Amino acid sequence: MFKFIWAEDSQHAIGNEGHLPWRLPEDMHFFRDTTMNHTLVSGSRTFESYGRPLPHRKNIVMANNPEATFPEGVIVMHSLDELLAYEKATDEAIFISGGATIFKLLLPYVSELYVTKLDGTFTADTFMPEIDYSQFELIDSREGILDEQNTIPHRFEHYRRK
Ligand SMILES: NC(=O)c1ccc[n+]([C@@H]2O[C@H](COP(=O)([O-])OP(=O)(O)OC[C@H]3O[C@@H](n4cnc5c(N)ncnc54)[C@H](OP(=O)(O)O)[C@@H]3O)[C@@H](O)[C@H]2O)c1
Repeated sequence: MFKFIWAEDSQHAIGNEGHLPWRLPEDMHFFRDTTMNHTLVSGSRTFESYGRPLPHRKNIVMANNPEATFPEGVIVMHSLDELLAYEKATDEAIFISGGATIFKLLLPYVSELYVTKLDGTFTADTFMPEIDYSQFELIDSREGILDEQNTIPHRFEHYRRK
């Protein structure tokens, strides 16, 4: 089962110059806690932004380039078909952590969405592909905290495909 996890601003922006456009520690903690001990799939650009394999998770990286090298322990997949075959053969929850290219690729197959919606507009060059929310039901929603570390109003939402 594929689950998307991402954060977006009011215009569905998710990235800028290879990084997140904002700093929001509560969302980083949510990402860590939700994906901990699970399988995580990222595109090569997003993986590069992590700077290392994320600990206590099975790291799968999507890369077209057959010669690209990744740190030991990282599983590299070169096509959508390879990832779909992997998903079929396992009962692991597979978290898709982006970026936009990988979200677009997996959108027809995703069962659950974990989205953090930021109230604001940021300078960005990467946007979430359009999602038809009529195909999903909201199963959980809560306001994020606001404090001196977390200054952007935000909300955590969890959807399941109908
Ligand atoms: N706000 C959020 O929650 C969030 C989440 C994730 C990412 N981001 C941001 O999004 C941006 C990166 O997104 P992006 O769309 O530019 O890049 P990306 O999706 O992270 O990675 C794209 C790369 O994935 C590989 N790839 C794509 N399709 C593939 C396929 N069918 N089979 C195998 N490999 C494939 C290619 O790697 P090669 O070119 O190496 O072959 C491609 O260049 C960054 O700014 C990042 O910070 C934000």
